[in-house]
Amino acid sequence: MPGDVTNPRIIVLASGNGSNLQALIDAVSARDFPGDIVAVGCNRPRAFALERAAQAGIETFVVDHTEYDNREDFDGMLKAEIDRRAPDLVVLAGFMRILTTEFVRAFHGLVLNIHPSLLPKYPGLKTHFRALEAGDKIHGVTVHFVTEDLDGGPTVAQAEVEIEEGDTPERLAEKVQQQEHVLYPIVVRWFCEGRLQLHGNQVLFDGEPLPKPFYLTD
Ligand code: GAR
Repeated sequence: MPGDVTNPRIIVLASGNGSNLQALIDAVSARDFPGDIVAVGCNRPRAFALERAAQAGIETFVVDHTEYDNREDFDGMLKAEIDRRAPDLVVLAGFMRILTTEFVRAFHGLVLNIHPSLLPKYPGLKTHFRALEAGDKIHGVTVHFVTEDLDGGPTVAQAEVEIEEGDTPERLAEKVQQQEHVLYPIVVRWFCEGRLQLHGNQVLFDGEPLPKPFYLTD
């Protein structure tokens, strides 16, 4: 997004509970937040995220993936719904669909994702379980730009949590989510302020290449 857009238009895509969406809604509702959530899109008609959006008076749309025969058609409809709202930023907040190359290319540099692991560790699913199985002491969350590389686009920021004796995947998920709810609004704000950009595969922060991801410790 060019740094001179005055009030960036944000679309949030979610599939489920929407706790990250809620954290973003709360952040954006602060008077000085430099952007607006103009719509929330879901691929599941019963996602609680839709209720959260409605509660906040935000427009919603559903593109139900079960109604499409293939990924291309689903992504085509999703892209059309996004395009007609002309967003400056698309935020994936627990959006559990793999996006086609065509979709990702069309929105290069305009899509952020949050993933519940310290990427490049544990792309894909069951990240908390896998971190516990591996005997890791540290786990966490990553915010990154979305590229064709699944869960592998350039990282902007990470936050870590300590894995403690007795942690279960569920407990770890809770701890990671607490960090997610802090980290995602910070990164979205940077983007809306025009401080964060993607050039090719390089993250720029304040116009300079970001040498390493921002790191938040709990
Ligand atoms: C979050 O923990 C997010 O990191 C994860 O889904 C959860 C959604 O929670 N995303 C992924 O696994 C993406 N690969 P929420 O619906 O309560 O925000």
